[in-house]
Amino acid sequence: MDSVFSVGMLIAYLPYKDQFAARASALIDRWMEFRMLRLHGERLTDIVLCPPDDDRGPAELPPPPDTRIEVENLSFRYGEGEPWVLSECSFTVEPGESVALVGASGCGKTTLVKIMLGLLRPTTGTIRVGGYDLRKVGPRNVRAIVGAVMQDDQLFAGSLADNISFFDPHYDQGADRGGRAAGRGA
Ligand SMILES: Nc1ncnc2c1ncn2[C@@H]1O[C@H](COP(=O)(O)OP(=O)(O)O)[C@@H](O)[C@H]1O
Ligand SMILES: [Mg+2]
Repeated sequence: MDSVFSVGMLIAYLPYKDQFAARASALIDRWMEFRMLRLHGERLTDIVLCPPDDDRGPAELPPPPDTRIEVENLSFRYGEGEPWVLSECSFTVEPGESVALVGASGCGKTTLVKIMLGLLRPTTGTIRVGGYDLRKVGPRNVRAIVGAVMQDDQLFAGSLADNISFFDPHYDQGADRGGRAAGRGA
């Protein structure tokens, strides 16, 4: 308004101003991405630096004679000083029996199943499948005899049985250990 800026100068100034604003905001975005990189790196180290499973079980295990699952005096907590999630839990699942675990959210159902699948190690107590102590047979063998679809798993197109058996057409024929079936991570 004081006629310091001519119309030409204003026209020239506007694109520069836009360019400056766009680049400044892009710089801030890059900086945020750079900060996130550290977070992703920390998450990755959780996995990369995690000690591998201690798999000292026998290399080849004959299929278990039956599928009775015995849980004995099982106690578990996620760490020293953490509250006990399971305490002195004992039960037996007979072959062919279907069992539903029922309880309020957070009471330990998923934890119990993860222990039974060998994903978590019991703090105390034993689990036997067909007489095999899961602690002694090693995680590789446990995963060969169990199949699981967990609550957070992504299912493939197909039936639930297909997903559990990883599309193995012979999963019922125990003799060839068709039960290779192991859900993602299970
Ligand atoms: N990875 C974990 N670390 C520490 N505590 C956990 C972890 N996972 C679950 N918990 C705790 O263990 C308890 C049982 O959880 P969970 O087995 O998931 O229960 P549910 O499946 O019955 O809902 C909850 O109090 C939960 O906060
Ligand atoms: Mg759960």
